[in-house]
Amino acid sequence: MRYGYFDDERREYVITQPDTPLPWINYLGSEAYFGLISNTAGGYSFYRDARLRRITRYRYNNVPFDYGGRYIYVRDNATGEFWSPSWQPTRRPLEGYSCRHGLGYTIIGSTYQGIEAQTRYFVPLGENLEIWQLTVTNRRREVADLSIFSAVEFCLWDAQDDATNFQRNFNTGEVEIVDDVIYHKTEYRERRNHFAYFACSSFSPLEGGPSTTSPLKGGPSTTSPLEGGPSTTSPLEGGQRGVTGFDTQRDVFLGPYRGWDNPAAVERGQSFNSVAHGWAPIGSHHVKVTLQPGETRQVIFLLGYHENPRDHKFDPPGSQTINKTTVKPTIARYLDPAQIEVAFGALRTYWDGLLGILQVETPDVHTDRMVNVWNAYQCVVTFNMSRSASFFESGIGRGLGFRDSNQDLLGFVHMAPARARERILDLAATQLESGGAYHQYQPLTRRGNNDVGSNFNDDPLWLVLGVAAYLKETGDWSILDRPVPYDNRPGSETPLYEHLQRSLRYTLERLGPHGLPLIGRADWNDCLNLNCFSDEPGQSFQTTTNKDGQVAESVFIAGLFVLAAKEMEQISKSANQQISNSAIRNPQSAIRNPQFYLDAARQMEAVVLEHGWDGEWFLRAYDDFGHKVGSHECEEGKIFIEPQGFCVMAGIGLGDGRAEQALESVNRLLATPHGIVLQQPAYSRYYLHLGEISSYPPGYKENGGIFCHSNPWVMIAETIAGHGDRAHDYYTRINPSAREAIGEIHRCEPYVYAQMIAGRDAPTHGEAKNSWLTGTAAWNYVAITQWILGIRPTFDGLQVAPVIPASWSGFQATRVFRGVAYHITVNRAGKGNAVSLTVDGQPVEGNVVPLPSPGQTEVEVQVTLG
Ligand code: BGC
Ligand code: NOJ
Repeated sequence: MRYGYFDDERREYVITQPDTPLPWINYLGSEAYFGLISNTAGGYSFYRDARLRRITRYRYNNVPFDYGGRYIYVRDNATGEFWSPSWQPTRRPLEGYSCRHGLGYTIIGSTYQGIEAQTRYFVPLGENLEIWQLTVTNRRREVADLSIFSAVEFCLWDAQDDATNFQRNFNTGEVEIVDDVIYHKTEYRERRNHFAYFACSSFSPLEGGPSTTSPLKGGPSTTSPLEGGPSTTSPLEGGQRGVTGFDTQRDVFLGPYRGWDNPAAVERGQSFNSVAHGWAPIGSHHVKVTLQPGETRQVIFLLGYHENPRDHKFDPPGSQTINKTTVKPTIARYLDPAQIEVAFGALRTYWDGLLGILQVETPDVHTDRMVNVWNAYQCVVTFNMSRSASFFESGIGRGLGFRDSNQDLLGFVHMAPARARERILDLAATQLESGGAYHQYQPLTRRGNNDVGSNFNDDPLWLVLGVAAYLKETGDWSILDRPVPYDNRPGSETPLYEHLQRSLRYTLERLGPHGLPLIGRADWNDCLNLNCFSDEPGQSFQTTTNKDGQVAESVFIAGLFVLAAKEMEQISKSANQQISNSAIRNPQSAIRNPQFYLDAARQMEAVVLEHGWDGEWFLRAYDDFGHKVGSHECEEGKIFIEPQGFCVMAGIGLGDGRAEQALESVNRLLATPHGIVLQQPAYSRYYLHLGEISSYPPGYKENGGIFCHSNPWVMIAETIAGHGDRAHDYYTRINPSAREAIGEIHRCEPYVYAQMIAGRDAPTHGEAKNSWLTGTAAWNYVAITQWILGIRPTFDGLQVAPVIPASWSGFQATRVFRGVAYHITVNRAGKGNAVSLTVDGQPVEGNVVPLPSPGQTEVEVQVTLG
């Protein structure tokens, strides 16, 4: 069943039914100010850090679902009926409801009793504010006398504290209301120098500018409507144009024991002009309008965040009133519809630019739409958010993950290499001198999180993969020379190159009894906790380490190490050529020698083949007792997906048939119509020595769920083995667009990947959870674009080596690489994957397009495949 459709031309997903199985969300913002918005206008906003700088309040796991957001009410003053054009919170039976989620914007609209209303939400580039642009049209034959109310609930900044520390927080809330603008200034008097604001234009004709008359003159209201009952006089001057009233105290606006679905102010048709003192500050405006038949008008709301210099916080100085000098021009600017149009156009151009780096035309619509729009978009969002804020991630749980962010780079680096560079340097600065890394860091402080700590032994190796991807994409070798500290400690800087060296050394210095890497707290699979043995409720599975960690080993880390060491060999080779007179050329250490990395990779490969092979597939690990994990000898959890994908990606077993055998085993034992499950048989009970993985009921999450992040590794491995049909088949099984038609089973958004689809052991097999913020986004993007379509950046140029389905006659692509547009046409001549290249009409040996001479900006690439 479908709940909407893809509007491919406009690059939008259009939801046509508001009660989707789960909230189907989108993200607003691209740099510092961000928001989540659901298809019924639910969600919240924050500045940079979803935990520490939360602007609006949101109650997760609420009843009803997704209750609280960016609400607008329309009230028919003739009848007293009111509704929300976004369906929530009033949930009236709307006509023509649609929610268009686009790239960085969402438009929600509907018609109710002949009144059409639509709101466009977006964050202008470079600004710390969001625009809600409401357009109302009277489709009736008679004049409509309407009231519009807005509503937003402020968060008292620290989202964790906001949800727990009520004895303090019920006392601290403060606002100012000046010139139709509601300022939320809780804690501004003391240690904060930031505030939020919620502004409203007067009711303006669609084509005209904003009204300049302010109905709420004269600074903050000092009389509270709580004294002396609700205000009955309207502050409006001059007829219907202007803001009629406001509310800032939640419980006055709603009324006692009422919810957002039935606010007292909306019901009676008049704001109370309440001023928040403690309790729960909100922002609500009331605007009245009379619309002639066929007439359209718009109201603009701005929700924003602003900082003042610490010594210019107050105006007049010495007072406690916010200095509004620098915020006012911004507010004025975006209350102007002409400026909004300009900003929206700029947002469109920004996305066209990002997505224009790679556009493809294949025989498969699901491939095209994910590659050209949605998968790339999700990669950007995931890069911005890491795993912090989604409908499933509360924004207070985690900062940026070291391994997560490095992998997110893989799907993002081609779109914004400068931002990728910055992220790499931030990540590397949280690395420890041992080569290990903080597992997470907070984006606002850029410091490692002590509570989670380090010793997730795969972490440092992902930095090598992230940097390799950056170098291949950009050819910017100078980054390797860049001094970067350890643990952010001034004075500890070494060139980034040495960070990579230490990453690899970290593994080599931590080998276990079989010569395989010790697993530490966990490797990629956070839930395979072989050193924890947790038997108390509430203990952290990862950080309550109680084994010495000298026995349990990971075959997955071995595969990752081989891949990273091979990359490092290439990096060292090229770096030696590229960077003359560089700090990284210290001849004293053999470790700087490319051959060292190649030898290390080969040695580890040999260990894997000797101790990491189970007969028909790669083993997963050895536990703290030295027993095998992921072996046919095990009662449950006999085969795991991770080492099959990763070892083959690293080239292990390619020469002797073991790679093929491992992939066959995956196909036979792990593949389902909904994707490839993580392991089989799922654990049916809790195993103290395996940890969190066995805490999940069978078929969910790491316990035999289809953990989508790991599926593309198998797709890539299949292409390396030359199996285009199988690779693309696996790709399609978890492609959200291809699953759109089974929306009632899949349940999550059909335009983005989810972390997990319930596995075959689960009663809800096929049901997705945890959409948006997952490494699945980057890895699927890499699998389809670089390995199946085969358009792959290398250190030396753009490689084109497609491994596509046999039934495809070919495809076309445009890829901008290092500033040059490559127009690629692939034609299938035979069944195989052999590539013959013609570049600008000239045959070229191999499958790497040489870098064109300086000045050339377009290259024609013809590929014959067969
Ligand atoms: C989840 C993992 C996740 C980890 C993060 C676990 O509960 O199952 O997927 O990586 O938490 O700490
Ligand atoms: C989600 C975590 O964010 C990621 O770091 C981890 O690799 C996967 N879960 C698998 O456990």
